[in-house]
Amino acid sequence: MSSITNIPENSPHILVLGMGGTIAGLALNPEGSPLQYQAGQVGVEALVGHIQSAVPEGVKLVSHQLANINSRNLTDAHLNALGIAVREALLDAAVKGVVVTHGTDTIEETGLFLQATCGKLALTQSKRVILTGAMLPSNAPGADGPSNLLDALRWASTAIDNCPGGIYAVMDGRGCMAMDLAKRHATALNAPLQNSPSSSVGLINPSWLSCVKAVQAAWNEDLPIPREGEWPWVEILTSHAGARAETVAQWLKSDIQGLVLAGSGLGGFHDAWVEPLDKAMAQGIALVRTTRTGAGSTWPNIPEADAPGCRASGSLTAPRARIALQLALNAAKQANLAGKPLTWQDFFARIADLPEIR
Ligand code: SIN
Repeated sequence: MSSITNIPENSPHILVLGMGGTIAGLALNPEGSPLQYQAGQVGVEALVGHIQSAVPEGVKLVSHQLANINSRNLTDAHLNALGIAVREALLDAAVKGVVVTHGTDTIEETGLFLQATCGKLALTQSKRVILTGAMLPSNAPGADGPSNLLDALRWASTAIDNCPGGIYAVMDGRGCMAMDLAKRHATALNAPLQNSPSSSVGLINPSWLSCVKAVQAAWNEDLPIPREGEWPWVEILTSHAGARAETVAQWLKSDIQGLVLAGSGLGGFHDAWVEPLDKAMAQGIALVRTTRTGAGSTWPNIPEADAPGCRASGSLTAPRARIALQLALNAAKQANLAGKPLTWQDFFARIADLPEIR
């Protein structure tokens, strides 16, 4: 672990975990072509060093590089390492809050993962875990990383209006629950939360905050982090005009355990998929339906009655539903080993049926 302030690690501090992303990116020609760059080039210690003089008085920082990747290459092993590091930090009396610098491309998956595995622990330990990133590389004119990182550090380290411990995200001057992240624009500075229920970071919106508390009150128990190498295999398939039965059928020969179907409209899928999906369910492959529209929810038995092995995703987008299904399949397996007759649907419902912030 690296410390930019050389403070002993048992004195109170904010832990900054580096995962990489554009916030740590470098462009070859930042003035002329800032969007032609490589993510995950600058170490987290340097990112923190860059904003050190603006960090609120008395806040000590310790940084730790967990990965330095383009987040499109995020793996189950990265999530394992992050989940374990966040849990350790939440249980460490010296750590007062955690900031995670992350690529925005898959920050949505990581947000849902941390909420489902560490959300209760963060609440009970009264600590905030704040995900942040950037849309411009660190050497681009007007780079947004430094201000996002500062906002995240302030949110992690200050009392702010009775905002409870939990898993949040901060970008472009706004904060949201990390489980509500969804990147919906290729370049806008607020891309990961532009469609998410959020609040200004400067002045917490009381109605947003009361919805956050309702979600947290409904989240009773964190799910286990799958052991490395034991993450269930789950893929996302998108229904579209001209969809073919073979797209589903080819998976029936594999060891896949779940499929997330990004359906059209209300989450329905092409008729060509009905027969192979029936076979998939008969083989015990878990099915979750979402909508490919990018907004809105998918409800049970709408537009048609669901088969028993298929469940609607609620407000979970396809990437989030995929993580939720992996965690639910793993939790059901662990529960069954402990003699508890719980199903993946029981665990999936705990995530998908959380109250929605509007
Ligand atoms: C990445 O996700 O690592 C690259 C894109 C970004 O951070 O905005």
